[in-house]
Amino acid sequence: MFERLELITADSILSLMAAFRADPDPRKVDLGVGVYRDDRGETPIPAAVRAAESALLARQTTKTYVGPAGNLGFNAEIARLALGAGHDALGAGRVRTIQTPGGCGALRLGAELIRFASPESTVHVSAPTWVNHVPLLSGSGIRLETYPYYDAGSGGVQFQKMLAALERLPPRAVVLLHASCHNPTGADLSQGEWREILTLVRRRQLVPFIDMAYQGLGEGLEADAFGLRLFSAELPELLFAVSCSKNFGLYRERTGALGVVCESKAHADAAMSQLVRLTRTLWSMPPDHGAAIVEAVLTDPALRRQWTDELDAMRNRIGQLRREVVRSLAERCPGRDFGFIARHHGMFSLFGIATPQVRELRAQHHIYMIDDSRMNVAGLRRENLDYFARAVSEVLAASPPAG
Ligand code: LMR
Repeated sequence: MFERLELITADSILSLMAAFRADPDPRKVDLGVGVYRDDRGETPIPAAVRAAESALLARQTTKTYVGPAGNLGFNAEIARLALGAGHDALGAGRVRTIQTPGGCGALRLGAELIRFASPESTVHVSAPTWVNHVPLLSGSGIRLETYPYYDAGSGGVQFQKMLAALERLPPRAVVLLHASCHNPTGADLSQGEWREILTLVRRRQLVPFIDMAYQGLGEGLEADAFGLRLFSAELPELLFAVSCSKNFGLYRERTGALGVVCESKAHADAAMSQLVRLTRTLWSMPPDHGAAIVEAVLTDPALRRQWTDELDAMRNRIGQLRREVVRSLAERCPGRDFGFIARHHGMFSLFGIATPQVRELRAQHHIYMIDDSRMNVAGLRRENLDYFARAVSEVLAASPPAG
């Protein structure tokens, strides 16, 4: 049977990871895959995570199964981190969280639940969205459509167009929203815009699915969850996906959770029972290690403080790099305004150059960004900011925009 299979290439992010690793040039700059990097270009394990992991290994006496819902302590803690400890929906027993293999597992499990509960529903994703959203969600069999989101001209959100598109959706349509640090554009919704979307979603009876993969890396742990917290308080139903890859530095441990907010405790219990059933059909039980670490960090006051300080430092470094790269680009490319990079949040910005220019940066200067010009700002370092800006100016000068 396998003779029928065609050879395919990996998606744009995975292919770029491989190309970067294979490039022996010492000047190479990785602005591709979304991992945090420090000033030495390394992706550190936060000290709080390392300490929790050492203690865990010392006290762990068994590797027996935990169960399909994963670590229940983690599930409770991650819900409190996402929604805020005193959130009304938690108090009312309307929320359930289930541990998943990373944020990807949460997105897929959420899509499976939607498809089971409402097979006629369509999930609407922003244009553009993270490259893996499409196969992850549509792999469940659910239909996907897009709504306008990014305005390349201003580097901001095309908010009126987005609202107009959502206004046309039928009841029970699902709208995938990025809680913060929009991937790939970096352009986030303001608090006022979240409020306006809430009004629309309530009136049109839409169901939000909020992807929160970067809590703490945009404007802070609380601010990044603003939309999710508001919607969970005001709406009868929603889903949310959480990833611990970036904010806890646990990438390869595949640690995440899916949350569902339901109209009543009874509905939440039913949803949870279906999530457990679906989990059993997908991966049976999630990996334990990362979730056990996160639970330990969040429940130990000293480790939690240390982790939030480390997270603040990561966020501040990205913010500073954003401002510095705008300055470097302004010096080297005075004819072009890259100021939007400083207004974006999280790791990514859509740089706004054409794919041939992106490829030229890669071929001539060993600077790797995704073909759509998504760049991971955290991959820059003070010492290569000028190298980057000079390379961009050369590439832009070699191919001025048409017209
Ligand atoms: C990214 O967007 O680069 C990350 O979320 C890593 C991935 O799996 O694509």
